[in-house]
Amino acid sequence: MSYSEFPYSRPRRLRRSENVRRMVAENQLSVNDFIAPLFVMEGKNEKVEIPSMPDYYRFTLDLLLKEIEEVQNLGIPAVLLFAKVPDDKKDNEGTEALDPNGLMQKSVRTIKEEFPEMVVMTDVAMDPYSSFGHDGIVKEGEILNDESVDILAKMAVSHAEAGADFVAPSDMMDGRILMMREALEEAGFPNTGIMAYSAKYASSYYGPFRDALDSAPGFGDKKTYQMDPSNVTEAVKEAITDEQEGADIIMVKPGLPYLDVVRAVKEVVNLPVSVYNVSGEYAMIKAAAEKGWLNEEEAMMEALIGFKRAGADLIATYFAKDAARLLLGK
Ligand code: PBG
Repeated sequence: MSYSEFPYSRPRRLRRSENVRRMVAENQLSVNDFIAPLFVMEGKNEKVEIPSMPDYYRFTLDLLLKEIEEVQNLGIPAVLLFAKVPDDKKDNEGTEALDPNGLMQKSVRTIKEEFPEMVVMTDVAMDPYSSFGHDGIVKEGEILNDESVDILAKMAVSHAEAGADFVAPSDMMDGRILMMREALEEAGFPNTGIMAYSAKYASSYYGPFRDALDSAPGFGDKKTYQMDPSNVTEAVKEAITDEQEGADIIMVKPGLPYLDVVRAVKEVVNLPVSVYNVSGEYAMIKAAAEKGWLNEEEAMMEALIGFKRAGADLIATYFAKDAARLLLGK
């Protein structure tokens, strides 16, 4: 072919109609890929909207069950639970996190009773339970690693006892996946999976989440354990390490500013890769839409397909229900 006869190649032919576009679409979103994060709090018959997360609520367990029924009816296969802990139950060792009748454990048990098919994933981290708002034990201004991992492993077992299908450590301590896997096997939970927050960055985009759980660090920041946003090799190393230590799903977090990390991790691990479309990403789209500056549905779907294009198999997102409704035409 000679370029004097320009243009033979016309990519626009494949964009001419909705049907042709559907035929050549390289990536698809499906409700099967969604994980719905949910916030639970103590009390009865109450739901509280999170100010920095419009239309997103913290629920007491009774109302959370209704929410999960909706999630289930939309075909979303999994929920990821976070518990809000009152200040008077917080301490440096996160003691409350290990209470077999604690809010998280009680919630998991009740949800699995009512919705046995629902895949229940639990956040394993000390920060909501820590009087310092950190993901580990604090000593003289330092976050201790190995002592914290001991507690995290016990937390994982406690969630497994309550019936969690997957535990999701979000702490970024070293060696935690290995210790958790060993603890789960020893305690008789070989089938409880681990979704590892392998590449979790020290991110400003967690702001609204910390409002939701009142879990902002009381001093300093999380930069000695969460990753530096300038790094990608380190993410690959973390992901490979977690795979070797026994993780079942590898997660990258946040999502939108880290699509290259999702791709890099997907290329090296032989496991499903999940991405966390975090609270600040939700808040950005919601806030711009409230101002009339973005079309909320379109911006949401574009962000979600972006995760698939980057290589994500699963997406934890506060948009799970909204996106499912659109996909199903409900
Ligand atoms: C706790 C945890 C955080 C998120 C998930 N688990 C916050 C943090 O590390 O400070 C953030 C989720 C979000 O922003 O949506 N370890």
